[in-house]
Amino acid sequence: MYIQWKKTYETGHPLIDAEHRLLVMFFRKLDVAIKTRESRETVLRIVQEVSCYVKFHFTSEENLMHETNYPGIKEHMAVHTHLLMELNKMINKLTTCREFPEDVLDFLSDWLTKHIAHHDKLLASHIDSAPDRPVAELIYPEYLQATVSQNSRTD
Ligand SMILES: [Fe+2]
Ligand SMILES: [Fe+2]
Repeated sequence: MYIQWKKTYETGHPLIDAEHRLLVMFFRKLDVAIKTRESRETVLRIVQEVSCYVKFHFTSEENLMHETNYPGIKEHMAVHTHLLMELNKMINKLTTCREFPEDVLDFLSDWLTKHIAHHDKLLASHIDSAPDRPVAELIYPEYLQATVSQNSRTD
């Protein structure tokens, strides 16, 4: 399984898309470390990096849901909680196995495509038309310029 950023992952929301790009980059970093047979310690450090970033990203999305009064907040947060449980199980497996199983990458890739394609795109489309705006929306162009221009809508 080769993990890489795809245009179809774009939700149209500049902050969510910028974070998803980094998420894919950390997954890819783990992929590279396993395939190039980096030391166990190095791979486990990257696993921790992935885990911390996933937690950060979920918190960031949940803050956007609060700020824009997202009606699907309970369901989306429950999915995040479930995904974190699955990720923790995978991390435990990685830390106890001598070999790093390839299925961790299949799991991350499968999770990424399904969750983004459904839940995150629903959230992005809600934010797009929500009367309550994200707190820091006005500063996005200053910090997310590259992402904003790459994600500019065609419609
Ligand atoms: Fe999400
Ligand atoms: Fe997400």
